[in-house]
Amino acid sequence: MKTSTRLNSLPPYPFAKLENLISKKRQEGIDLISFGIGDPDLTTPDFINQSLVEGLSISGNHNYSSSAGEKSFRDSISLWFEKRFNVSLNPDEEICALIGSKEGLAHIFRAFLNSGDTIAVPNPGYPLYEHGGTMLNDFKPLILDLSEESNYIPQTTQLQESDFSGIYLNYPNNPTGSVIQTSELNNIVNICNEKNSIIVYDNAYSEITYGGYKAPSILQCDNAHQNSIEFHSLSKTFNMTGYRIGFAVGNKNLIDGLKKIKNQIDSGSPKFIQHAASTALDSYNNGIPPKEILDNIKTYENRMSLLSDGLSKLGYEVKIPSGTFYLWMKVNENCESFAMKLLDNGIVVTPGSGFGNAGDNYVRFSLTVTESDISKALEKIPSC
Ligand SMILES: Cc1ncc(COP(=O)(O)O)c(C=O)c1O
Repeated sequence: MKTSTRLNSLPPYPFAKLENLISKKRQEGIDLISFGIGDPDLTTPDFINQSLVEGLSISGNHNYSSSAGEKSFRDSISLWFEKRFNVSLNPDEEICALIGSKEGLAHIFRAFLNSGDTIAVPNPGYPLYEHGGTMLNDFKPLILDLSEESNYIPQTTQLQESDFSGIYLNYPNNPTGSVIQTSELNNIVNICNEKNSIIVYDNAYSEITYGGYKAPSILQCDNAHQNSIEFHSLSKTFNMTGYRIGFAVGNKNLIDGLKKIKNQIDSGSPKFIQHAASTALDSYNNGIPPKEILDNIKTYENRMSLLSDGLSKLGYEVKIPSGTFYLWMKVNENCESFAMKLLDNGIVVTPGSGFGNAGDNYVRFSLTVTESDISKALEKIPSC
C-alpha cells in the first residue's frame, strides 16, 4: 500500500530495528543479556499494584475518564509538585493527565505551530522529538548539536543565532545521563522567551538521580510560566511503563491547547490507572520518595558502579552520570558495528546513532539488568 510522504520521510524507529535483531537471535536459541531498551526490570511497588486492584472495584471506574484526567489525580499531582519542587499549580488549569508522557510530547506542538514551522531538537536526543513530535506533524526539525564537552547542554550562541518556534529539552537526559543546573535552565528560558519559542521540557527521569543531585523543574525558573510546559512520567520512577500514565504541567494556555488536541483523539487514561498513579505520587513524604523508590535508585547506583568499573578495567572511558539509568559510552569505531560485535557475543546495547548522528561513536547501556548479568556480560565484552 502507498504510504504518505510524511511516513516515508521517517527512518525506522531505532528500537524496532533492535527488537527484530534480538528476536532473530533468540529464535536461533542464543541467550541474550539486554542493556537495550529503557524498560525497568524492577517491578511496580506492591502498594501501587494493590491500589490498582482497589481502583478497579470503585463504582464508575469502568467508565471513560476525560482527556484532562480525573480531578483526584490532578490534585495529587498538584500536591506532589508543591512538595517536590515548591511550585504551586492550579489542578484545573495547569495540569493535564497523559496516557504515558510520550503521547503528550508527540501532540503538544500541534496545538500551537503550523505546517513548516521549526522545532529545535537535541542531537543526541530521545528519537520522538525529531520524528514523532516534529516530522510526523509536518514541522521542520532544527538540529541542536550537543557535545560531551559542553555536558550536552545547548550553547547560548547556538540558541541565540537559531530561528525556531519550539524546542524540546530533556534533563536528566536520555541517552547521555547528563543533568542541568537551574541557572543554566534560567538562561535557556530567557533566550527562548525572547524568541517567543515554546519550551517543551521532558522531565521523565526527574526522580532517578545520584550523589545528592536533585533534578529541578523548569517551572522553578522565574520566567518559565510564560512559555513552558513540562512533561512527567510515572514509567521510570515507579516502574510503571506498561501502566501508561504521565502528566503535563505548566502555562495554562499550553495546557489548554494540549487538552483540546487530546479531546479530539483520546478519552483519557483509565480511571483505575489514575487511581493507582495518585497512590504512587501520594507516597512521597514532604518531597522525599518512599523506601521502595529509594531502594530502586540504590540498585541502579550499584549496577552503574559495577558496569562502569568493569568497562574502565577493559580500557573504555566511562563517566558515571548524575541521573537516569543509562550509561553513555564512547567507542573507537562506528557504534553500529560495535553493537553488532556485542550482539554476536550475546549482549544487546543501543547504538548511539539511534539518537542522532552526534551519537555515531557512542553506545547506550540501560541499567535494567541484574548485577549477576552485568558481571556475566563484562566477561564477554572485548577490551578496548
Ligand atoms: C526522555 C524520555 N521521555 C519520555 C519517555 C516516554 O515515557 P512514557 O511514555 O512511558 O511516559 C521516555 C521513555 O523511554 C524517555 O526516555
